Amino acid sequence: MALRSLAAKKTLASAAAAGLGGVGQARGLKTFTLPDLPYDYGALEPAISGEIMQLHHQKHHQTYITNYNKALEQLHHAIESGDASTAVKLQSAIKFNGGGHINHSIFWQNLAPVREGGGEPPHGNLGWAIDNDFGSLEALIKKMSAEGAAVQGSGWVWLGVDKEAKKLVVETTANQDPLVTKGGSLVPLLGIDVWEHAYYLQYKNVRPDYLKNIWKVINWKYASQIYEKECPKA
Ligand SMILES: [Fe+2]
Repeated sequence: MALRSLAAKKTLASAAAAGLGGVGQARGLKTFTLPDLPYDYGALEPAISGEIMQLHHQKHHQTYITNYNKALEQLHHAIESGDASTAVKLQSAIKFNGGGHINHSIFWQNLAPVREGGGEPPHGNLGWAIDNDFGSLEALIKKMSAEGAAVQGSGWVWLGVDKEAKKLVVETTANQDPLVTKGGSLVPLLGIDVWEHAYYLQYKNVRPDYLKNIWKVINWKYASQIYEKECPKA
């Protein structure tokens, strides 16, 4: 990880910004590959341990990608052979694994080591919008932490922007549902994974402690960039 090239970083940034991660080609079908992390596994310590990051990235995210590619390939065959029943049956695997790939590709971008600006509050338009819509950054953090802690089972808590209403929203999604399942005009700025695999090795069953510490490594610069792109000021 220490020898990552700048080119690899740029490829990841542009692909992940599109919610895709790496993209490959197999027998005319576009498949996906695990995007590299833009930092070393241990770079988020002590907020998130290197062991968690490595497993989360190499095992969990990779599994979503493997299963997503498998389901896409099966769907491709089902469509080609006119097998409507199989095509419909594959939808839940596509939603779960494709969602897992989309969500984790965003999540890695949402984190940054402290020495690279992790935890630094957002400035500019996103900072103003947060004050306007939630009162303050502290109030937003409190709300997202509480809603993330309250997710039953596995899921995500999101800060998104409704690009039609030009308003920030906090939402939760179950399992690996991406934010867009809560509304077609919602764009994720920041997603926090509250699956046990994201924190259990370090925080055990105390999800609120994980949600307290993760703010120390949140990459607000990335969230601001997406916000500026979706809500450009005239
Ligand atoms: Fe995860």
